[in-house]
Amino acid sequence: MTLKIYKDHHQLSDTAAEEIIELVKQKPDAVICLASGETPRLTCRLLIKKVKEQQVDLSQCTFIGLDEWAGIPPSNEGSCHYFFQHELFEPLQFRSEQIHLFDALSANLEDECLKMDSAIFERGVIDLMIVGIGMNGHIGFNEPGVSFNNYSHVINLDETTVTVGQKYFKGGAVLKQGITLGLKHLQDAKKVLLLANGIKKAEVIKKAVEGVVTNSFPASIMQTHANGWVMADEEAASLLDKRNNYPA
Ligand code: F6R
Repeated sequence: MTLKIYKDHHQLSDTAAEEIIELVKQKPDAVICLASGETPRLTCRLLIKKVKEQQVDLSQCTFIGLDEWAGIPPSNEGSCHYFFQHELFEPLQFRSEQIHLFDALSANLEDECLKMDSAIFERGVIDLMIVGIGMNGHIGFNEPGVSFNNYSHVINLDETTVTVGQKYFKGGAVLKQGITLGLKHLQDAKKVLLLANGIKKAEVIKKAVEGVVTNSFPASIMQTHANGWVMADEEAASLLDKRNNYPA
């Protein structure tokens, strides 16, 4: 694992967007997985700007959505579908064949997991996975206690996720289960970027980077990834003991 510290959310997001651009320039048919949420929103916006400025061709790459709230329709503004559609797919004019998202309204969510795993395995592995970190240390919806050896799966959401998740939904939502890529996908991925910004992420970043590697705190798995970068802004990195050992 490598820790990288940035001045602010903008600098961090700019670097993450640049990583996508560089990858696609080298490998036009790259497989890219992204989380939704507050953290990667700026990365998406900067990516769109860079793609247009540099005329990068994303038409051959495959896009994998990290997770989705079970039972929440794509038309709901709080859904991951909605985020990707508006922040990425429409602005970049992705073709539907390029996109793989969980159908969280499916009557058979297990089947959705198998479909997602097949989509990834058919293409080899994920080239670049960009994830966030939850207030309970989750990655995607890999909640505390999850196996490190799961591929896609359905999971009961942790209380923290249900509470914090309300921020995405105007008027609230009933959140019970999530459907998510597993941490085995993360371990298999060629490169993983975990993004975190703001003082509210300082404690979880400390545990992820300097705590014990344990499935009780899923983001600690980053410590085991040879090509995993934890990318934190100054605020999110502010509780790290060894922060000076890791210049950006
Ligand atoms: C969302 C996801 C979640 C978030 C995490 C942080 O697709 O996978 O694990 O990355 O909860 O969310 P934000 O970025 O809103 O703080």
